[in-house]
Amino acid sequence: MRIPIIAGNWKMNTTLAEAIKLVSEMRDELDAIANVDKVICPPFISLAAVGELIKGSSISLGAQNLYFEEKGAYTGEISPLMLAELGEFVIVGHSERRQYFNETGDIVNKKIRAALKVGLKPILCIGEKPAENEAGRTKVVLAEQLSLSLADIDLAGSLIIAYEPIWAIGTGRAASGKEANETIEFIRQNISQLYNKEIAQRVRILYGGSVNATNANEFIQQPEIDGALIGGASLKPEQFLSITRQASEISRL
Ligand code: PGA
Repeated sequence: MRIPIIAGNWKMNTTLAEAIKLVSEMRDELDAIANVDKVICPPFISLAAVGELIKGSSISLGAQNLYFEEKGAYTGEISPLMLAELGEFVIVGHSERRQYFNETGDIVNKKIRAALKVGLKPILCIGEKPAENEAGRTKVVLAEQLSLSLADIDLAGSLIIAYEPIWAIGTGRAASGKEANETIEFIRQNISQLYNKEIAQRVRILYGGSVNATNANEFIQQPEIDGALIGGASLKPEQFLSITRQASEISRL
C-alpha cells in the first residue's frame, strides 16, 4: 500500500508575509485530512517561518531545490544540511530548473545523492518536452532521465518521483488520467529494471502538470498514480484543500 502524497510547489511566489498568510489560511483544515501525506514547498526564505507554523501538525515541509555540497564557498547556494534541519522533502530536477538554470542529469544525480545522504526525501521530477511528446519519444526520454538521475544511487532511502510532462506545466492542458497512468506504469517498470520489483512497488510516483480541484480525481484514482505535485493550484487554499480531500477519500477506499 502506497500512501498518496499531495505536494504543493509554490515556485517563486509569495513574499514572507504572503507565505505566512497562505499557510495560516489552510493549516488547520489541511492538518485534519487523513490517509494522505501533505507537503508544502515554499520558497527558501519562508521555510523557517512556515516550518514554525506547521510544527506539531501532520503537514510536512519541502524545499524546491538544493545544492549538492554540504557547505563552503558557494555563494548564494543552500546546502542539504541546512534543509535537513528544516524540512523532510526536497524537489530535485524540476523542468524549470533544467530549462532556466541548465541543470543536467549529472547535476540532478549529485543533488539526489546529497539529499539522501542527509535523510531528505527527494521528489525527482522527470518529463518530456512538447516536441519529444509529439515525436513519440516520451518513453525514451523518461528512461534516459531516470538512468542519469539515479546512476549508482542505492535506493535505501525514500525516493518520490513526479512525472511532469513539460507541455502540461502551467498551461492548463493536463494529460489525461489514462495517459498519465500508462506513462507512470512505464516509469515503475523502469525502476523495477534499474533496481528490483520490491523497490518499484514501494516508490511513490506522482503526476504533475495543470492539476486542479476539477481534474485531480482523474489522476489520483488511477492505480499507478500515487498523488500529485501541484503548482498554480497550491497557491489557492480552497483548491489545494479540495485536491487533498479527494486524495484522502480515494485512499480510504
Ligand atoms: P502547475 O505546475 O500545477 O502549475 O502546472 C506543476 C509543477 O510545475 O510542479
